[in-house]
Amino acid sequence: MRDNIVLIGFMGCGKTTIGTKLAHILNYEFLDTDQYIEEHQKMKITEIFKERGEQAFRSMETECLRTFSQSIHHTILSTGGGMPLFEENARLLKETGLVLYLKTSAEDTYLRLRGDTTRPLLQTDDPLSAIQNMIKQRDPLYQKVADHVIVTNDCSLDSIIDHITKLI
Ligand code: S3P
Repeated sequence: MRDNIVLIGFMGCGKTTIGTKLAHILNYEFLDTDQYIEEHQKMKITEIFKERGEQAFRSMETECLRTFSQSIHHTILSTGGGMPLFEENARLLKETGLVLYLKTSAEDTYLRLRGDTTRPLLQTDDPLSAIQNMIKQRDPLYQKVADHVIVTNDCSLDSIIDHITKLI
C-alpha cells in the first residue's frame, strides 16, 4: 500500500484540523480535496454548487482524486464528506492509502456546524434533520471504505491524534 493516510467522514468531523496537525507531527505533506478544487476552479465551493450544480462538483471531486491517487506520496489527504459515496471514488480512496473514518454523531456535528454558511447541503430550515438523515445514509458507505473507524465524540484533538498515531 502507498504511504498515504486518507481521512474520510461527515462534514465538520475534523478532517482538516486533525489532518493538518497529524501531518505536522508525522512530517507528512497535507492536502485537502476541497481546498484543491477551490484553488483549481478559482471559486468557493458554495459558488460551484450555485453556479455549476452539485453534479459538476462531484465530477471535480472524482477528477481530483484520480490525480491524487496517482501522484501523492507521504501525504495526509483530507477529503470532502461526499467523496466516499461514489463507487469509483471509493476504489480510488482505497488505492491511495490507509483510509481512516473520523466518525461523529449527528448532534455533535450539528453543534459544531451551527451557523456555518460554507456547506451548501446544510443550508436548510432544519439542518439537524438533514445531518441525521445524511449520516444515516452515509455511515455504512464510510464504514465500507474505511480501514479503521475512529470515533471522535467527546475526544480532544490530542487524544484523537494519539489514537491515530498508535494505529499506523
Ligand atoms: C460535502 C462536504 C464538504 C464539501 C461539500 C460537500 C458533502 O466538505 O465537499 O460541501 O457532500 O458532505 P467537508 O466534509 O470538508 O465539509
